[in-house]
Amino acid sequence: MKRLALSDEDAEARRLVISWMTKAGMEVRIDQIGNVYATRPGTDRTLPCVLMGSHIDTVPTGGAFDGTLGVLGAIEVVRTLNENHVTTLRDIEVGFFTEEEGVRFGTDMLGSAVTAGRITLDDAHALTDDDGHTVADELVRTGFDGPAHHRRPIPHAYIECHIEQGPILAGAGVEVGLVTGVQSISWQRLTVRGEAAHAGTTPIEYRHDAGLIAAEVIVKLRRMCDSGTYGALRATVGKITFGPGQTNVIPDTATLTIELRNPVDQQMSAAEEHLADVVRDLTARHGVQTTLDRMAKTAVVPFDEQVQKLIARTADDLGLDYAQAMSGAGHDAQEISAICPTAMIFVAGENNGISHTPKECSNPRA
Ligand code: HGY
Ligand code: MN
Ligand code: MN
Repeated sequence: MKRLALSDEDAEARRLVISWMTKAGMEVRIDQIGNVYATRPGTDRTLPCVLMGSHIDTVPTGGAFDGTLGVLGAIEVVRTLNENHVTTLRDIEVGFFTEEEGVRFGTDMLGSAVTAGRITLDDAHALTDDDGHTVADELVRTGFDGPAHHRRPIPHAYIECHIEQGPILAGAGVEVGLVTGVQSISWQRLTVRGEAAHAGTTPIEYRHDAGLIAAEVIVKLRRMCDSGTYGALRATVGKITFGPGQTNVIPDTATLTIELRNPVDQQMSAAEEHLADVVRDLTARHGVQTTLDRMAKTAVVPFDEQVQKLIARTADDLGLDYAQAMSGAGHDAQEISAICPTAMIFVAGENNGISHTPKECSNPRA
C-alpha cells in the first residue's frame, strides 16, 4: 500500500471511505486539517459523542491493515448497529485523521495533534514535503480543506482498534490486546557537513568524511540500545542521503533521520542527551559541522483506566482472551487522549505482527 497523506491515492481512498460512511447513513464533515468525521445520531444529540477511528494514510511500503482496520472496523460497528436497529443515547462518530504516519510532511499524528491542540493549525498548514508542497496546498488540491473547526467538540470517549504491529499478542497466545498506553517517540534530523574530496588521492588523515560520521552514529545508536543503560530504548535510522553521492568522491554531506522510542520518559531524555554528546564529540574529532533538528517528540501516554476496564469487560463477555500491552507504535489515540478518556484495542497479526511492509497481515478470526 502506498497512500501518502493527501496524495492522489490518499484522496481517492478518502472519497471511497466517505462513500461507505454515507451509505451507512452517517453525516460526514471535514475539518480544516482534513480530518474526516462521520456521525450516526443518538437519541440525545446534546451529549458528547463516542468517537472511534484511526487513519488511512500509509508509509510508502505499507500494509493493508495499519490504520484502515480501525476506520473500517468502526464503520462496521455502525453498520452492525444499523442492521440490528440499535439506537444509542449518544451520537456515534467515526473519524480518520490526516498524516498519521508523518512520512510525507515530517511529523507524525499531525491531524490528531492539531485536533488536540499540540500542534497549531497554522504550523501544520505550513509543513512541506520533499517537493516543497505545503499541507495547506495539498488540502486545497485534494479538496479536503474542510470548513469544520479543527478543535472539534470534545468526545465523551475515544476508542481506536489497530493491529498490534509486534509480537506481544502472538507470544501470549491471544488475539486481542488491551492497550495500556503508548511509549515516547523522538524524531530528529541529523545533518553533517564535511568536505568533498577525491576518494583516491586524499589521505585518511586529511578527510572530513560526512559519511563516516553518519555510520558512526548508526553504530553508536545500536550500542546504546544494547547497553541497557537507556532501558528498552529502540533506535532507527530509516532514511539517509549522502551528497554529492558519487562513488569516487568523499561525501561532504550526510542527512539522516534518527528516531528513538522508549517506554520511560526519563530514559528517553537520557538517550537524547547522550546522542547530542556523541554528535558533539564526532563533530570536534572529524572537523565537520553538524545540526540536530527536532522533527517530532511525544511523551509516554497512559490510556484511561475506565475505558480500559470497559474493553476488558467486553472481551470477557465475548469470551475473548486478551493480554495487556503498551504500544510500541504511535497512534492517533495518544493525541486524542489529551482531550477525552481514550484507550485502544489491539488485534494480533501474523508473522510476529510484522508491519510497515506489504507482509502485514491479521487473521480474519481476530
Ligand atoms: O511511527 C509510528 O509509530 C506509527 O506507525 N505512525
Ligand atoms: Mn497506524
Ligand atoms: Mn504506521
